[in-house]
Amino acid sequence: MAPYSLLKPLLFALPAETAHRLAMGALAVGCRVPGVLAMLRRAYGWEHPSLRIRVWNREFSNPVGLAAGFDKDGVALAPLLALGFGFAEAGTVTPRPQAGNPRPRLFRLPGEEALINRMGFNNAGAAALAGRLRRFRAAFPAEIVGVNLGKNLDTPLEEAAGDYISAYRAVAGLADYLVVNVSSPNTPGLRGLQTRAALVEILEALSADLIDFPPTQKQYPGTIDAPPLLVKVSPDLDQAGLREIAAAALEAGCDGLIATNTTLGRDGLNDPRGEATSHDEAGGLSGQPLHQKALETVASLRRFSEGKLTLIGVGGIASAGQAYRFIRAGASLVQLYSGLVYQGPGLVRRIKIGLAERLERDGFSSLREAVGADVPL
Ligand SMILES: Cc1cc2nc3c(=O)[nH]c(=O)nc-3n(C[C@H](O)[C@H](O)[C@H](O)COP(=O)(O)O)c2cc1C
Repeated sequence: MAPYSLLKPLLFALPAETAHRLAMGALAVGCRVPGVLAMLRRAYGWEHPSLRIRVWNREFSNPVGLAAGFDKDGVALAPLLALGFGFAEAGTVTPRPQAGNPRPRLFRLPGEEALINRMGFNNAGAAALAGRLRRFRAAFPAEIVGVNLGKNLDTPLEEAAGDYISAYRAVAGLADYLVVNVSSPNTPGLRGLQTRAALVEILEALSADLIDFPPTQKQYPGTIDAPPLLVKVSPDLDQAGLREIAAAALEAGCDGLIATNTTLGRDGLNDPRGEATSHDEAGGLSGQPLHQKALETVASLRRFSEGKLTLIGVGGIASAGQAYRFIRAGASLVQLYSGLVYQGPGLVRRIKIGLAERLERDGFSSLREAVGADVPL
């Protein structure tokens, strides 16, 4: 397996989105070659009993997941999971396919190990994702895959609930959990749905629909009951906003929160070695400059929900120490995107080894015991 240090300069010589597409294409095609998935698992796999965690009645082999947006259309879930992730999140998917914003729309800030993106929910639509997920499920029934749902750009905000429901119906029975994405900064007005009233309306409409669409247990043994419903949160909310989100999630019987999406803030961008113009690009910022903000958001959400909601922590995780901080702040699971771009696929294994070492060092026999250790209730 070529080390990422050799591959990275080649990928970084290309525009960021081209490099991403190329890497995804190589994974998607490569994994059809017999033996490649097994080779990836051998090269990158590493599991430890202390990292297992049961969440929403599902057994995660480890808490490190692939964040939404990396594989929006579910084209390379099998090889990505073979890199050692405990779960992956497909999407954001919208009911109808859409092109997203004009390119370029993804920018690297190498000095800060950050990205700015304004993709705008480019995706092939919910029906296309459902087709891929169906094939994936048939081949890999035990893998845990969530689906992140969004609304089409041209759907009025007042009708957003209808879009989340349509997207959900298309993937009904195929997702281990569902995420209502109201936190992308790249769909105008979307973040306005993070008020308590708007969120409760969407969540209640969706929950009612989940009951109407019973589980398809026989077809998809990996999906055992109505999927848990989560909300993905912005890092740009103040404490009052976060309190509202937690209250809305509890009121609507939501199962968890993902914190956070990318930020519109530009704190922490100070390295002049970054690509000359990238710092000024519009869009959501991810990677290292987001880490502290996302971490604090998780801690706040734990407090405001009094530990009653399961939290997934995401934002600038590029080391075991950073993943561990999220867990101690209250996250049961973590996800990453930008870290993978800068550190390469070996990062997942390094995080897992480092997490197991830290649990042992701190006297925790399981991950569950460490969840929220730094934010007592
Ligand atoms: C290019 C790109 C596209 C993304 N697309 C989505 C998306 O479609 N839906 C979503 O919920 N989050 C999306 N995200 C946000 C990530 O899932 C994650 O929340 C954010 O990048 C913070 O994690 P990181 O610092 O590890 O990258 C995207 C991020 C990037 C960089």
